[in-house]
Formats: sequence, C-alpha cells, structure tokens
Amino acid sequence: MNSNTTLRIPPYAFAVFVLLLGLLLTSCGGSAEPEVPPTPTLSAEQTAGKAVFQGAGACSTCHSLKADVRIVGPSLHGINDVAGSRVEGQSAEEYLLASIIRPQAYIVEGYEDVAMDPTIASRLTLEEIDQVVAYLQTID
Ligand code: HEC
Repeated sequence: MNSNTTLRIPPYAFAVFVLLLGLLLTSCGGSAEPEVPPTPTLSAEQTAGKAVFQGAGACSTCHSLKADVRIVGPSLHGINDVAGSRVEGQSAEEYLLASIIRPQAYIVEGYEDVAMDPTIASRLTLEEIDQVVAYLQTID
C-alpha cells in the first residue's frame, strides 16, 4: 500500500469545516437571544399604586389620564411635570401627597366649584397613599 491509495483530504478542508460550523453556531446563537428593546416597566410600588388608583382609591372615577379629559377632577395627564411647580417650595412628591391628604390646600384653576373628596385619604392606608404617589410620579 502506497501513498497513492490513501484517502486524500485537502489541507484546507478542516478550515472550511470549522468556518461553516462557526457560521452555524453564530446564527443559532443569534436567534436564541433576539434583541428586544427594553420596555419601561413599573416598580412593584408603582404597580401597587396603579392598582390603588384604579381600585381602592377610586381616583380613576374622577381623573382621566388622557390629556384634557375632564371627568369630575382635572386630567392627570403629565401630572408629574406640573406637580413640582404648583406650590412654591413643594417638590412634585410633596405636592402629590398633599393633594391627596389635604385636597383643599391647593385648588386647581377652574375647579373652585368641585371639591376632591377630603375623606379619600382616610379610606386608604399610609402604604397605599405612598404607592399611589409613586405611581403618579410615573405619569409625565
Ligand atoms: C370625587 C372625585 C375625585 C376623586 C375620587 C379623586 N379626586 Fe383628585 N381631584 C378632584 C377634583 C375636583 C380636583 C380639583 C380640585 C382640587 O385641586 O382639589 C382634584 C385634584 C387632584 C390633584 C391635583 C391635580 C393638579 O393638576 O394639580 C391630584 C394630584 C389628585 N386630585 C389626585 C387624586 C388621587 C391620587 C385620587 C385617588 C386617591 C383622587 N385624586 C381622587 C376630584 C377627585
């Protein structure tokens, strides 16, 4: 048996094989981890606050989140952007808290004749109030 009868594998065959395997693996890896842009999500506290807004607090029965939609109270669309400049010296968080526990302390222009129910806060726990304030701060 001489060298003429042995199976001859061209020297570049191995390189081609490795290259194809590499392409196959990268394409599989790519589809296993699709690039989905991150979506903004609410924290646990903000999510709980959203539930209070729609449920226990009944805020959504008087407040729309759509711009310029008046139910009983003003739309809270973009509330986090204006809350910090409503009352001098009050941060957005302080103003939002005050507007729930002492709604008469600041009356939104045009709402002099309709009051926000001042007993709402007494029907919520302190935790629920903090949660709804955290949620309102996501609305901008
Ligand atoms: C019975 C209807 C009613 C309910 C229920 C109600 N509100 Fe109001 N809210 C009003 C009215 C009317 C005003 C405007 C008068 C005022 O400024 O107090 C107002 C004002 C506000 C403001 C000030 C908005 C601004 O532009 O400065 C905030 C913040 C607010 N409410 C949050 C809440 C939250 C949070 C809840 C639920 C815990 C809630 N409201 C439940 C009627 C309501």
